[in-house]
Amino acid sequence: MRCSNLALAALLSLSSAHASFLPSLLHHRNSGVHSGVSRRSIPHPAKRHSARGASTSSNGTNYVASTWYAGWHATDFPIEYISWEKYTSVTYAFAVTTADEAMVSLEGPDATLLPQFVTMAHQNNVSAGLSIGGWGGSLYFSNAVATATNRTAFVKAVTNLVSNYSLDAIDFDWEYPGHQGIGCNAISPNDTSNFLAFLQELRPALPPKFTLSAAVATTPFANSTGLPSADVSAFSKVLDYVAIMNYDVWGPFSPTVGPNAPLNDTCAPPAAQAGSAVSAVKAWTAAGFPASQIVLGVASYGHSYKVPSSAALSPSASGGAQTLVDNAQFDNKTVPAGDAWDAAGPDVCGVNQTFSGDVDFWGMISGGYLGEDGKALSGIQYKFDTCSQTPFVYNATSEIMVAYDDATSFAAKGQFIQSTGLRGFAMWEAGGDYDDILLDSIRTSLGMPTPPSSGSCDETDINIGVGVGVGVGVSA
Ligand SMILES: *[C@@H]1O[C@H](CO)[C@@H](O)[C@H](O)[C@H]1NC(C)=O
Ligand SMILES: *[C@@H]1O[C@H](CO)[C@@H](O)[C@H](O)[C@H]1NC(C)=O
Ligand SMILES: *[C@@H]1O[C@H](CO)[C@@H](O)[C@H](O)[C@H]1NC(C)=O
Ligand SMILES: *[C@@H]1O[C@H](CO)[C@@H](O)[C@H](O)[C@H]1NC(C)=O
Ligand SMILES: *[C@@H]1O[C@H](CO)[C@@H](O)[C@H](O)[C@H]1NC(C)=O
Ligand SMILES: *[C@@H]1O[C@H](CO)[C@@H](O)[C@H](O)[C@H]1NC(C)=O
Ligand SMILES: *[C@@H]1O[C@H](CO)[C@@H](O)[C@H](O)[C@H]1NC(C)=O
Ligand SMILES: *[C@@H]1O[C@H](CO)[C@@H](O)[C@H](O)[C@H]1NC(C)=O
Ligand SMILES: *[C@@H]1O[C@H](CO)[C@@H](O)[C@H](O)[C@H]1NC(C)=O
Ligand SMILES: *[C@@H]1O[C@H](CO)[C@@H](O)[C@H](O)[C@H]1NC(C)=O
Repeated sequence: MRCSNLALAALLSLSSAHASFLPSLLHHRNSGVHSGVSRRSIPHPAKRHSARGASTSSNGTNYVASTWYAGWHATDFPIEYISWEKYTSVTYAFAVTTADEAMVSLEGPDATLLPQFVTMAHQNNVSAGLSIGGWGGSLYFSNAVATATNRTAFVKAVTNLVSNYSLDAIDFDWEYPGHQGIGCNAISPNDTSNFLAFLQELRPALPPKFTLSAAVATTPFANSTGLPSADVSAFSKVLDYVAIMNYDVWGPFSPTVGPNAPLNDTCAPPAAQAGSAVSAVKAWTAAGFPASQIVLGVASYGHSYKVPSSAALSPSASGGAQTLVDNAQFDNKTVPAGDAWDAAGPDVCGVNQTFSGDVDFWGMISGGYLGEDGKALSGIQYKFDTCSQTPFVYNATSEIMVAYDDATSFAAKGQFIQSTGLRGFAMWEAGGDYDDILLDSIRTSLGMPTPPSSGSCDETDINIGVGVGVGVGVSA
C-alpha cells in the first residue's frame, strides 16, 4: 500500500506538461487503447488452465483474476508496481500484427520489457500472457489467417514467440473480425471462419495447459454478413475463454453521455440500451459460448464530457439539491483532455485524433473529482445510476462530467460474475487503479482471499518510485 501510494504520488504530480513526453508513445497509445470501439465498428455498441496462481473461492470456483499491462505506460507504472499477488494472470499489451504473417512485432521498448515482465510474473507464480493486436495492432490479422499457407506461417510466428519468451498465455485482441476497426485494417467476410481455422491449427501446436484467450466485443464474432454469428460454440473448444470488453459502450462517439461500462442496460429506456455485461453475456451464451468460459472485462478508467450545466443538472422535485441528468446532452465539438495519459495525435492509419477524454481511476483523484478514498469530493455532484450500476460525477465549474467505475460498481460486477457463473474478470488496465481500490473491491466481492502483503514495499521499491517521479519530471 505504502509503496503504491508513493508510486501514485509520483503519477499524481504529473501536470499536463507531461504530455510533451507522450508523442513518442502515440503509436502505442493508439495501438493500445480499446476505446473508439463502438464508434467505428460494432453497430450500436468493442484459460484458464494455467498451472500458476490459481485462486479458489469458497465454493471451489477457480476465478481468473487478470489484467492487461500496457507496456507504453511502463515509465509511469513499471512492472514492479503491479499487485502481482492479487492476480492469477497478467497480460502484456501489445504485440502487433505486421504485413508479413510470419512476423508478430514487439515494438519500441516491448522487446526488452517483455522478458522482464515474464520473469517477474513467474517469480510471483502468475501466468504470463501476451496480447496480440489491440485497436491499432489489428491491421493484418485478416491477411494472416486468410489462407491455409498464411495460417501455417502465422501459427509458427505465434509458437516462436511463446517458446522464445516462455509465455504461459496468448490473448488475441483482434478488433474486430469482419468489422472495419480503426479504419485501415484489412477485412474479409470470412474473417471469423478463418480465425477459427487458425485457432484450430494453433491449439495443438502449443504446450499442454497453455492458455489461449480472445478479447472480444459485447456481441459474438461477426458472420459473413457482418452480423453477430448465431453459433460460436466451436471457439469454446479451442479458446480457454473470451474476455468481453464491456467498456467504451458509451463514449465521446455516442449521442449523449452514458455509462462507460454498464453492468445492465435491459432496465434502461430503449434509447439507452447500448450494451452491458448482462446483455453481452446473454448474447454470447445464446450463441453457444459457455458462461464458465466468459471473463468479464472491467475498466479502471472512465470517459469525460463537456456538458453545460443547463443540460447536466435538474432541480429536485422538492426544490432541494440539484441532481445529475441521465444521458445528458454533451457539447460534442469539445472533447476535454482526460488525465496525464491522454494524448492527441495521428493514429496508425495516419488520421489525426483529438484527446480521448479518458480519465483513469487515479486521474479521477488527481483531477479533483474523488478523494484518496475513491469517494466524490465535496463540491462535486455525484450520482450512482441504478440500472448500469455505475457512478457519474460532475464539476459545475469546469462543466465536465465523467462516467466511470468505482469500488461500488466493481463490487456489483463481482457479484454478477459469481451469480452468473462466469470465469472471472480482466481489468483494462493494471496501471489505471489507485491504491487497488477497484481491484480489492472486485476480489472481495468474488470471495477471493486478501493476499498477504507481498512485502514488495521495501526501500528498493520506494527508491524506484521516487526515481521514476524524478525521471518523468526531467523528461516532461
Ligand atoms: C510458488 O509456488 C511454489 C510451488 O507451489 C511455492 O513453493 C512458492 O512459495 C510459490 N511462490 C510464491 C511467490 O507464491
Ligand atoms: C497472405 O500473406 C501475404 C503476405 O505474406 C499477403 O500478401 C497476402 O495478401 C495474404 N493472403 C491473403 C488472402 O490475405
Ligand atoms: C527472442 O527473444 C529475444 C529477447 O529475449 C529477442 O532479442 C529476439 O529477437 C527474439 N526472437 C524472436 C524470433 O522472437
Ligand atoms: C470466403 O470463403 C469462401 C468459401 O471458402 C470462398 O469461396 C470465398 O472466395 C471466400 N471469400 C473471400 C473474400 O475470401
Ligand atoms: C448472420 O447472422 C445473422 C444473425 O445471427 C443471421 O440472421 C444470418 O442468417 C447470418 N448470415 C449468415 C450468412 O450466416
Ligand atoms: C437487469 O435488469 C433487468 C430488468 O430490470 C432485471 O430483471 C435484472 O435482474 C437486472 N440484472 C442485473 C444483474 O442487474
Ligand atoms: C454533434 O451532435 C449533432 C446533433 O446531435 C450532430 O448532428 C453532429 O453530427 C454531432 N457532431 C459530431 C462531431 O459528432
Ligand atoms: C494533423 O494535425 C497536425 C497539427 O494540427 C497538422 O499539421 C497535420 O497536417 C494533421 N494531419 C492530418 C493527416 O490531418
Ligand atoms: C472544478 O473545476 C474547477 C476548474 O477547473 C477547479 O478550479 C475546481 O477545483 C474543481 N473542483 C470543484 C469542487 O469545483
Ligand atoms: C459457485 O457458485 C456460483 C454461484 O454463486 C455457481 O454459479 C457456480 O456454479 C458454483 N461453482 C461450483 C464449482 O460449485
